[in-house]
Amino acid sequence: MTPSTPARGAPGYDASPYVPEGADLEALRGAAARCEGCPLFENATQTVFGAGEAHARVVLVGEQPGDQEDRRGQPFVGPAGGVLVRAVDEAGIDPTDTYVTNAVKHFKFEQAPRGKRRIHKPPGLREIGACKPWLVAELALIDPEVVVALGATAGKALLGSSFRVGEQRGTALPLPALDGGNGEGVLVATIHPSAVLRADDAARAELYAGLVADLKVAARLLE
Ligand code: URA
Ligand code: SF4
Repeated sequence: MTPSTPARGAPGYDASPYVPEGADLEALRGAAARCEGCPLFENATQTVFGAGEAHARVVLVGEQPGDQEDRRGQPFVGPAGGVLVRAVDEAGIDPTDTYVTNAVKHFKFEQAPRGKRRIHKPPGLREIGACKPWLVAELALIDPEVVVALGATAGKALLGSSFRVGEQRGTALPLPALDGGNGEGVLVATIHPSAVLRADDAARAELYAGLVADLKVAARLLE
């Protein structure tokens, strides 16, 4: 049986020794590039830190970089990013008001048995907990009005391991006080944009419409 693992404090799983105090976003990005806070740095190409406006009103939090993000070093530049950009626009959120990041900043994957294809593996609670100090530091500096959790991993990172996207999506939830935060933030959870891509043709339009509807909840909070 696999032992259950806490989201924080698992031995060898903690980015906090790598997070510099008093750093601005650029300094954080530089330090994150050297993070060895969990084993994921070993096989990935590079750290994929957040990107966008330093004073964004909305921070969108994904799961972890995918194959293309890992190669390019930027979040949400692959197919899921395409869905996200379109949905954010349709929801009426100004992209210049946004900062996009991930709960886990290295790509976790498995090599396909034959060939070079790298198959995405979802991060576990240990990696989510290990990487959380970077997310907390980003949120403390940006201090957005609304945080959007895209899918279960982001929800677990921000609200705890009992988070269930199906039960908690599409409504304004209080964002718990994170280290350095003022405890006054608001969080809106929704599905991950890659769920739209994975869906079969019959389900895709409805999933996409649900993503846009949830993002409109975030958009209304900015009015
Ligand atoms: N999926 C994510 O969660 N984040 C990315 O950056 C890309 C795909
Ligand atoms: Fe550090 Fe996060 Fe990468 Fe793990 S996934 S090495 S904690 S940046």
